[in-house]
Amino acid sequence: MSTHSKNGRITTKEITAMKNESKIVSLTAYTKPMAELMDPYVDMIIVGDSTGMVAYGFDSTLPVTLDMMIGHGAAVVRGARRACVVIDMPFGTYQESKEQAFRNCARVLIETGAQAVKLEGGIELVETVEFLVLRGIPVMAHVGLKPQHANVMGGFKVQAGDNASVDRLLREVESFTAVGAFSILIEGVFEEAARRATKAVDVPTVGIGASPECDGQVLVTEDILGLFPDFTPKFAKRYADLSKPMQEVFAQFENEVRDGSFPTRKHCFGMKP
Ligand code: KIV
Repeated sequence: MSTHSKNGRITTKEITAMKNESKIVSLTAYTKPMAELMDPYVDMIIVGDSTGMVAYGFDSTLPVTLDMMIGHGAAVVRGARRACVVIDMPFGTYQESKEQAFRNCARVLIETGAQAVKLEGGIELVETVEFLVLRGIPVMAHVGLKPQHANVMGGFKVQAGDNASVDRLLREVESFTAVGAFSILIEGVFEEAARRATKAVDVPTVGIGASPECDGQVLVTEDILGLFPDFTPKFAKRYADLSKPMQEVFAQFENEVRDGSFPTRKHCFGMKP
């Protein structure tokens, strides 16, 4: 179980203070029941725009809208009583200007009750993060492999494999930290890059596909539960294969409905005499 006090929600300040004290445990969630089940065990729940691919079946995260994120975010906040809830800002809702970013991030925090937002970007985004933090919006910066940039990055490729790109990553994490990001998500980078980036900053790094060198780890919940039987990314560990028992339940239900053994009397509302 997570070691935080059972009274109240874990704040972004508490997440920041976990650097060098305790590993940060994080998972994604998009719905209330999933958030409720994981809440006792995680420090942070990320309502990722991965929902676009995981729950909606899109090929990328780009079609995800602000309204979708607000719906999922509010559901997760209703399910999680303790974990710090961070909501992904979808593509096109924060890149245009600082003002656009503030308007949309504020809407997300107001309408969901979440603690923070997560924004993908590099040096071009630093000014925006500063603008948001100064106006009361806690920000987690997402660097390394940035799925919203897949079209310019040439797909979902591991990043920071040479000196120049490691230097760029270091400049990014240092700049985001300097303007007040409370933590940094590092996705899909080589181990050496994650180690150097984590050492370079005094806020925690949370990695996905970024080695144990990060201050915490996050994974996509459906991956660790084995809900995608045909594909598990190299960096994800499948702790269970729930697709099998789920399909067994569906098959059993099918059989019982077809042969008439469900529902029985005990599942029926009988007429009063
Ligand atoms: O969208 C997502 O699920 C993410 C994860 C890396 C947390 O950004």
